[in-house]
Amino acid sequence: MESTAKFFIALTALCLGFSSAGLPMNMEQFIRTVEQIEGSNPSLTALSVVRSLLQVGGYDNPFFKHFLEASSVRSEHKPTIPDPEYSKFIRLAVHHKVTDQGREEGVVLCGDGTTVALGPVLLGIEAGLSAGTGNPPKGLCILTLARTLGLSFLHYHNSSLSQSLGPDGCWDNVTTPKNFTLSGAPSLATDALINGGMDGMLLGVHLSSLPSHSLRLSAVLKGYYRQGLEGPDAPPLLISAFRRDNFGQLVNISLLEEEVLSSLAVHRKLHEEVDPRTPVVLEDVVKTGVQEFIRRYIECPAIIPRCQWGARPYHGTPVQLKLPLSFVYIHHTLSPRQPCHSFQKCATNMRAMQRFHQDDRGWDDIGYSFVVGSDGYLYEGRGWQRRGAHTRGQNSRGYGISFIGDYNDMLPSLHSLRLVRERMATCGVGGGWLVSNFSWHGHRQLVNTKCPGEALYAEIQGWKGFQLRNSSDGGASQL
Ligand SMILES: *[C@@H]1O[C@H](CO)[C@@H](O)[C@H](O)[C@H]1NC(C)=O
Ligand SMILES: *[C@@H]1O[C@H](CO)[C@@H](O)[C@H](O)[C@H]1NC(C)=O
Ligand SMILES: *[C@@H]1O[C@H](CO)[C@@H](O)[C@H](O)[C@H]1NC(C)=O
Ligand SMILES: *[C@@H]1O[C@H](CO)[C@@H](O)[C@H](O)[C@H]1NC(C)=O
Ligand SMILES: *[C@@H]1O[C@H](CO)[C@@H](O)[C@H](O)[C@H]1NC(C)=O
Ligand SMILES: *[C@@H]1O[C@H](CO)[C@@H](O)[C@H](O)[C@H]1NC(C)=O
Repeated sequence: MESTAKFFIALTALCLGFSSAGLPMNMEQFIRTVEQIEGSNPSLTALSVVRSLLQVGGYDNPFFKHFLEASSVRSEHKPTIPDPEYSKFIRLAVHHKVTDQGREEGVVLCGDGTTVALGPVLLGIEAGLSAGTGNPPKGLCILTLARTLGLSFLHYHNSSLSQSLGPDGCWDNVTTPKNFTLSGAPSLATDALINGGMDGMLLGVHLSSLPSHSLRLSAVLKGYYRQGLEGPDAPPLLISAFRRDNFGQLVNISLLEEEVLSSLAVHRKLHEEVDPRTPVVLEDVVKTGVQEFIRRYIECPAIIPRCQWGARPYHGTPVQLKLPLSFVYIHHTLSPRQPCHSFQKCATNMRAMQRFHQDDRGWDDIGYSFVVGSDGYLYEGRGWQRRGAHTRGQNSRGYGISFIGDYNDMLPSLHSLRLVRERMATCGVGGGWLVSNFSWHGHRQLVNTKCPGEALYAEIQGWKGFQLRNSSDGGASQL
């Protein structure tokens, strides 16, 4: 009783407007905080730690109770949080909201450079832990993701489809992140909520398959939010960097449609709302919404935006490309020579290349359209819309994609090759950036250079759509 009181006094202080916690809003700090709670309350199960965190985050409303209450054991005592600064931090980290200034709260920066909302992660963990070994977690997809998607699809169904999903955002400082500002008009399904939803679902399924739950919550989070990839060719592990691959294997379009529709049905029942739309219209809204979701968040690769790797601004005025383009030119960086296996390393490489291209070469910006790390991510260079400076004479006609490393004697990891060959290609065509019969070329086919290296050049010759003929032959008149 006394511990409960202390816990809530600390929270009340926050609600009264005391200055916000000075701790960095990252996953490392969140895990440290969970470890402290576990250390001060050694008899608590992971499930009760998760439940009290969710309660602090405001996730104990009727909707969530509908799925979680039945299995809840409410008799367990509440954990104490010894350090009041930590309880402020927890509320800020778990309670999701978007402020009028476009700041998103209830989100943390992960070691892989992506941002997640913690609420849906914890909801998935709770569903997984309370399922009982071998049972499918009740309402898992609805709790973590489907409700978020459904409400956003409905809310924005009169606006353009793309407004019902995203956006991503930027941290004020990736070393000591405090404020996360959305990079556009917020939907009800921001990228952080979607990332957290996918993670929650993956963790829920994983935990429900384990034989016993003597696990610590901090250990579960540490395992999943590991920084950096271990080996260059490690299989898709259950870690955040492979979120989209793993999630894509878990769901399909019909399953998601079904889950979104049933979450909307539960929502309506609980709120006693009568939806004016006929079931047919509703199904249609959900169908197109789910299709767009799959395209953007499962087919497309995750791309680390410029603000996240610490890009300097573009010098001058960017030239907009005339879309769609017909070519993709493959490069390797040569310098840096070593592949990068973590967000911090790849981001450092990106900044160094941009500095070199701007300061030494005198270009407006980093030359490449996109850069491929070996950490599971693509990095945004000039992006889909702006003309790059990568392949002399061809920059208006194609995108320049560069693999970080020296690929004369070895190949990039299988995962990063697939990221480009499959994900980027499908995404580029689906998004209207590339024509469907676009062709791949090596840099050396257009310019007198050894780039993209012997090994990588041999590799791309086996890709569907690779063209041996130089793209400038017969195409020059288009310039
Ligand atoms: C959305 O569009 C429908 C017609 O398609 C219209 O009946 C409804 O009033 C609109 N809702 C809003 C909120 O604009
Ligand atoms: C980010 O924070 C770190 C540590 O607090 C500081 O050293 C660094 O200068 C900051 N970076 C920027 C761009 O403000
Ligand atoms: C974060 O945003 C709030 C509200 O806009 C502001 O008061 C605070 O100073 C910001 N914190 C940092 C570290 O920029
Ligand atoms: C989608 O997934 C569900 C559940 O895993 C499965 O029962 C169903 O057959 C799948 N449908 C398609 C079209 O693959
Ligand atoms: C791609 O398809 C279009 C028609 O859809 C055709 O005009 C064009 O020649 C094709 N390009 C290549 C490189 O095959
Ligand atoms: C393609 O272009 C490169 C560089 O200009 C040139 O060395 C090569 O001979 C050309 N290949 C063909 C088949 O025309």
